[in-house]
Amino acid sequence: MMKKALITGGAGFIGSHLAKSLLEKGYSVVIVDNFNEYYDSQLKRDRISKILNGLDFKLYELDICNLKELKSVFEKEKIDIICHLAAQAGVRYSIDNPFVYEKSNVLGTLNILELSKDYGVEKIVFASSSSVYGNSNKEYFSEEDDTSSPVSLYAATKKATEVICHSYHTLYDIPMIGLRYFTVYGPYGRPDMALFKFTDAIIKGEPIDVFGDGKMERSFTYIDDIVSGTIKAMESDFFWEIFNLGSKPVSLLSLIEEIEKNAKKKSEKVFMPIQKGDVLRTSADISKAKNLLDWEPKTSIDVGVSNFVNWYRQYYSI
Ligand SMILES: NC(=O)c1ccc[n+]([C@@H]2O[C@H](COP(=O)([O-])OP(=O)(O)OC[C@H]3O[C@@H](n4cnc5c(N)ncnc54)[C@H](O)[C@@H]3O)[C@@H](O)[C@H]2O)c1
Repeated sequence: MMKKALITGGAGFIGSHLAKSLLEKGYSVVIVDNFNEYYDSQLKRDRISKILNGLDFKLYELDICNLKELKSVFEKEKIDIICHLAAQAGVRYSIDNPFVYEKSNVLGTLNILELSKDYGVEKIVFASSSSVYGNSNKEYFSEEDDTSSPVSLYAATKKATEVICHSYHTLYDIPMIGLRYFTVYGPYGRPDMALFKFTDAIIKGEPIDVFGDGKMERSFTYIDDIVSGTIKAMESDFFWEIFNLGSKPVSLLSLIEEIEKNAKKKSEKVFMPIQKGDVLRTSADISKAKNLLDWEPKTSIDVGVSNFVNWYRQYYSI
């Protein structure tokens, strides 16, 4: 019998793509998501109806902060493994909306851990973030680096997720793997992220705000690579590990050039100073994931951006 996997945040960008791959591999999949309105929830519904079209899975629409409702899922389903992705994401939104981060990312995670302990879950893989590295000026960020100085509340709650998970791992011997994702992009991606916003504006002929004067760099990582790394982590036998999953850093200006090529339009850039909470550069040292998970990203930025822009045009019929 293939394992039953619970994906929290399974209507999200990463969760929906992960669900598809797991279902195609023969896993039973249970999705929990509250379809909140942080960004257009129709996109979340469409991920479920289009990406997972024709596949057999269970969907529970509920908030992981509601322990009672969440418990009923663990009661009904015998969950073997959890991929815990549900969280309030976004660095900038955390400046004006701090409490939702504390709720979803801290209390929500604690609820998942309490129920995992009570219902004998075999393994938990959870999403952390490159943002835990803060304003590191190292050339490559390694899992060994100090991550005790976050520069946004989002980052602080992702670090909190890691340390809270570690406490439950130690107390109850539940194997856990934390994945520090670096700027994930691809079809059905998040409307609050740079690639989506730039593509949307460039196609519509509107100006784009380019923060950090375009010199900001991100380890943009394609969704299929993130899914393959996440599944490798789910299928590994480590007791406790943290892995970076990231690709080569690309500057915002190069990203914009790729979009322009694919949209066949020039952008109108409005240069802006770097925003509070943002970091200048993220760059993943992935030697640990290479060595221990046999993982490396396979999708180059030109192929990835082209897939995204094609999806965008089709989805919005532009
Ligand atoms: N996309 C990235 O670049 C990136 C980078 C680093 C880390 N991450 C992390 O990966 C995970 C998934 O990110 P994503 O990009 O797919 O984001 P997403 O916002 O598309 O997905 C998160 C999903 O969780 C759901 N959710 C949020 N709070 C919930 C709650 N309290 N109860 C139930 N459901 C809830 C949302 O409705 C959403 O569908 C998050 O933990 C995020 O912090 C993402």
